[in-house]
Parts: sequence; structure tokens; C-alpha cells
Amino acid sequence: MRLKTPTTSALNFLPEQHDLGSLRAAAKDCRGCDLYLNATQTVFGEGPRLSRILFVGEQPGDQEDIAGKPFVGPAGRLLDACMEEAGIDRRTAYVTNAVKHFKWEPRGKRRIHKKPRMNEVTACRPWLDAEIKAVRPKLIVCLGATAAQSLLDSSFRVTQKRGQLIHLAGYPLILATVHPSSILRAQSEEDREREKMHFVADLMTAAKALSQSSPASEEHG
Ligand code: URA
Ligand code: SF4
Repeated sequence: MRLKTPTTSALNFLPEQHDLGSLRAAAKDCRGCDLYLNATQTVFGEGPRLSRILFVGEQPGDQEDIAGKPFVGPAGRLLDACMEEAGIDRRTAYVTNAVKHFKWEPRGKRRIHKKPRMNEVTACRPWLDAEIKAVRPKLIVCLGATAAQSLLDSSFRVTQKRGQLIHLAGYPLILATVHPSSILRAQSEEDREREKMHFVADLMTAAKALSQSSPASEEHG
């Protein structure tokens, strides 16, 4: 009798060398879960090799799937604007996702985002862990529940713990906040403005924590 059904994982697809270039190249061919079947391509993280801050989203959206780059659609534009308001230059940040393939379902001619399941998030986690090890950020910002639940724990509630600095053994400081898409979905202009201000305030907490940690040059040499 088999004790446990083997679960699929990206682990079998990790390359020998764990520099970002090797990881990105190997991730192109990942079949660690079924999500590669309906997506255009793997959307790997992007940013400087040694970034002090690393952002984790949920999964690529429609535009990211086509462009092959993370956060280039509406949520990405809002993220850029809010980072700028908080004094964080996107060009200095590494930006990635908990899941590297776009999960969607058809609605008419459109592809509608579908939330990844926990087993898909878990399957994809080796890529995220390898990115974190290669980039060695001082701070990780989790954008939304999927990212926070991937790194922290599956019962993590962003609404209860957003904007707090979290220590997790073996990881840099972590701060979780909402996903920029949730701001875009706000019902009224007033709600949207308020949500945006709260999000920028969380990013400012991140920027402040970063400014208080040692400069990149000291440890990244
Ligand atoms: N939403 C995400 O979580 N990630 C992206 O890259 C784009 C939209
Ligand atoms: Fe691999 Fe992640 Fe894509 Fe699944 S979602 S196939 S684990 S890269």
C-alpha cells in the first residue's frame, strides 16, 4: 500500500547552479504542477541581482503572461505609483510572484484570473525560496494573502497583521500587506483612495525598516 500520494513540486526542475540566470532558464521548463499547461510562459521574477527589497505577488495576470514579466499590467502600474509615493524605486527592487504561471478561466473571449490552490502555491515555492536565497534581500514584502500564506503560514490573515514587521527563522524581515488588485476592486473612488493611502503607509513602514538596516554594500560587498 502506498502511504501517501506523491505531490508534484518544482523541486525536480531546479538547476544545479542557483544563480538567478540559471534559475530563470530552468524555470522556463518547469512542470512542477499543472498550471504550465494553460499558460503562455513562465513569468520569473525580475530586478537587480542583489536587491535590498523583494516583493512577492500572487501569480502573473493576463498581461504578465503575454509579456513574460511580473507586474506590468494594471496592478503593476498601481504598485509602481505607490512604491514611488513611499520612496521606493522599482528599479532597485526585485519583483516576483508566489506562483510563476497564470491560472485563468475563460469568460467569453477574456481570460479571467483564477486564484491558485494551496497545492499549486506549495509546488511553486522552491522557485521563490531559490530567488530569495540568490537575491538576499533585507526585507520581503508580501502582496496579498497568497504570498503571505506561501511564506508564513496557510492561516495567515493579511487583514489582521498587515503592515507589521515579521521575523521568520532563516528569512529576511517580512512585511505583509494587501495586493494592489484589491485596491483596484474597491467599490467607490473614496474607498479606493483610502485603501491606496493605507497601502502606501505599509510600504513606508517597509522603506523605513530598510533604511534602518545596514546598507547593501556592507553585506553584499
Ligand atoms: N498580480 C500579481 O500578483 N502578480 C503580477 O505579476 C501581476 C498581477
Ligand atoms: Fe512550475 Fe510554478 Fe509553473 Fe507550477 S506554477 S509549473 S510549479 S513554475
